[in-house]
Amino acid sequence: MSTTFQLDTSTSRANPTPAPMKRLTVPAIRQRKKDGVTAEPVVMLTAYTARQAQLLDAHCDLLLVGDSLGQVIYGLPSTIPVTLEMMANHAAAVVRGSYHTVVAVDMPFGSYEKSPEQAFENASYLLKQSGAAAVKLEGGAAMAETVAFLNARGIPVMGHVGLTPQAVNILGGYMARGRSDAEAQKIVSDAVALDEAGAFAIVVEGVVEPIAIEITKAVSCLTIGIGGSAQCDGQVLVTEDMLGMFERVPRFVKRYENIAETIERAVVRYAQEVKDRTFPAPEQTYQPKG
Ligand code: KIV
Repeated sequence: MSTTFQLDTSTSRANPTPAPMKRLTVPAIRQRKKDGVTAEPVVMLTAYTARQAQLLDAHCDLLLVGDSLGQVIYGLPSTIPVTLEMMANHAAAVVRGSYHTVVAVDMPFGSYEKSPEQAFENASYLLKQSGAAAVKLEGGAAMAETVAFLNARGIPVMGHVGLTPQAVNILGGYMARGRSDAEAQKIVSDAVALDEAGAFAIVVEGVVEPIAIEITKAVSCLTIGIGGSAQCDGQVLVTEDMLGMFERVPRFVKRYENIAETIERAVVRYAQEVKDRTFPAPEQTYQPKG
């Protein structure tokens, strides 16, 4: 667990009971990349609930309340229908469940693309409602002005280039990006534009590995790979994917557990015990006293 930085922006009046540990900050994580080298890679996972955040918190630097919750939690077909309210509610739960990590929250589709002012209004709503410390938004050069606008007004921004799921209707699917020279160069220049605009980190998703490496060398901010390269400054995965909750996952996911099987085994046993009336047993029932 990292203890690189200690700065608590909350007042003791707001939090009379000391938290068990101090939270990392965006500048502390950003400063890990020095002269193009990140000695301690950034560990990031998605989180959508308080309990999940409690379990991940001590082992991560960043928790991302990703709009992937649309598919993972709500069973939606894509991230397009996700709303600002969904993001604010889940982000608040994740902040309540964590003490150590920086919590970043995705800006959902339609909440930031229109203008820097629209983005500021909705990003500040997300931070006020949840207590998260940063927002993430998708898109490259087209979003640079917005990133600079938010950054100059106190909102740290994480960019997201390559396979950007909110653009699924333009991209035509979720396949790896950057296979043509023209597309590769566009992704690199998008990342450079976000870096110059002041993004503290950029998620580089679903690109052929040389692009992820080139971006990591070209930008001064952190790159967080997901289907990128081990040479990125950090990595992120959707927690449910790496835990093995789903049968179908992208090639870039490594399953560290098979939680779906564990859950199914438990439910099969429970259903059987309900049917044969061995659950609840005496130890799970209340009896009159005396
Ligand atoms: O929405 C999300 O979970 C994400 C990560 C996969 C980077 O954007």
